[in-house]
Amino acid sequence: RPLEVDTGDVSLNGFDHYMLKEIYEQPESIRNAMRGRLDDQDATAVFGGLNLTPQQLRSVERIVLTGCGTSWHSALVGEYLIEELARIPVSVEYASELRYRNPPMENNTLVFGITQSGETADTLAALRETKRKGHRTLAICNVVASSIAQAADGGVYLHAGPEIGVASTKAYTSQCCVLAMLALYFGRTRHMSYEGGKRLIEELRRLPAAVQQALTTDEQVRDVAKKYCNATNFLYLGRQYNFPTALEGALKLKEISYIHAEGYPAAEMKHGPIALVDKDTPSLFIVPRGTTHDKVMANMEEVKARGGPIIAVASHDDPHIEAIADDVIRVPSVQEFLQPIVTVVPLQLLSYHIALLRGCDVDKPRNLAKSVTVE
Ligand code: AGP
Repeated sequence: RPLEVDTGDVSLNGFDHYMLKEIYEQPESIRNAMRGRLDDQDATAVFGGLNLTPQQLRSVERIVLTGCGTSWHSALVGEYLIEELARIPVSVEYASELRYRNPPMENNTLVFGITQSGETADTLAALRETKRKGHRTLAICNVVASSIAQAADGGVYLHAGPEIGVASTKAYTSQCCVLAMLALYFGRTRHMSYEGGKRLIEELRRLPAAVQQALTTDEQVRDVAKKYCNATNFLYLGRQYNFPTALEGALKLKEISYIHAEGYPAAEMKHGPIALVDKDTPSLFIVPRGTTHDKVMANMEEVKARGGPIIAVASHDDPHIEAIADDVIRVPSVQEFLQPIVTVVPLQLLSYHIALLRGCDVDKPRNLAKSVTVE
């Protein structure tokens, strides 16, 4: 594919690159994703375009989330969110696999195609194939009237505004935000109490300010980038809601800095990847306060004992982290299910600064196109 990025008339607004501009737009793009969709009266979310009757909604037995690349990572976040908050079984599928895999699906399966561009060939094909089999297909999409938005039976727009940088940033956090609202919406048709719904809405409303605060790590992240920009391998490690964050951080680094990076659930380290740890291989741990915090700290100790440099993305008030990590980037505390939207911000910034320091073309990385419209 040609490497053209159509910038249209979107201005850089004083930023050096679209990617940086889009990273900084996230408090606003998240606000836009939520605008008009939080219903205080019924303590739920409202979506104009799902085109589902209350009966269809109640009868959903399984949700399939499909997409590619970063959109697939947000699907993984969605799996944790919907299963925890709405108690509906969720499967996450790479669209490129789903389109040929022909898995058995219950009658009342709802299929969501997640996509920024709405033009990704594999996601479009996977949705068409599942629709052909009689399943209801919905799109979580940024570009209005794109091919996937039109092919689906309904859906939710991200309203993130144009994303020009090839590395997806604001679309990802908006996808996670929409998935959290969908989890609230499905949850409230099932087991979630009125009070539970209210609490969730309050947490969602705190998100833009939390992301704004996470952006203030920029300068510190630049210093971390200087320290590690010559590494040839990176490990990204996190658990539960932050396992997808680890995958997303690694993908960002790979695609714009051309540094080999792998993301793993932190506890998987001991099943192989720990063999990679040495003094030249930094491990970035996403370790905010929460259920698995202490377990991830133990994983950090294992890496430290083997001489691996450690960067930690931690809660602003974690008193123990400096004792283990070489560099600590602190982010504001939010409820666990919203952490991925906040913890990913310094990882986006890290890949941006490393790419700059290595002289890479941040907005148009080699070999990549903004939308992959071929198989
Ligand atoms: C993300 O940084 C990538 N450029 C890529 O993985 C992208 O997310 C993927 O190609 C899917 O694109 P879509 O969201 O437009 O469908």
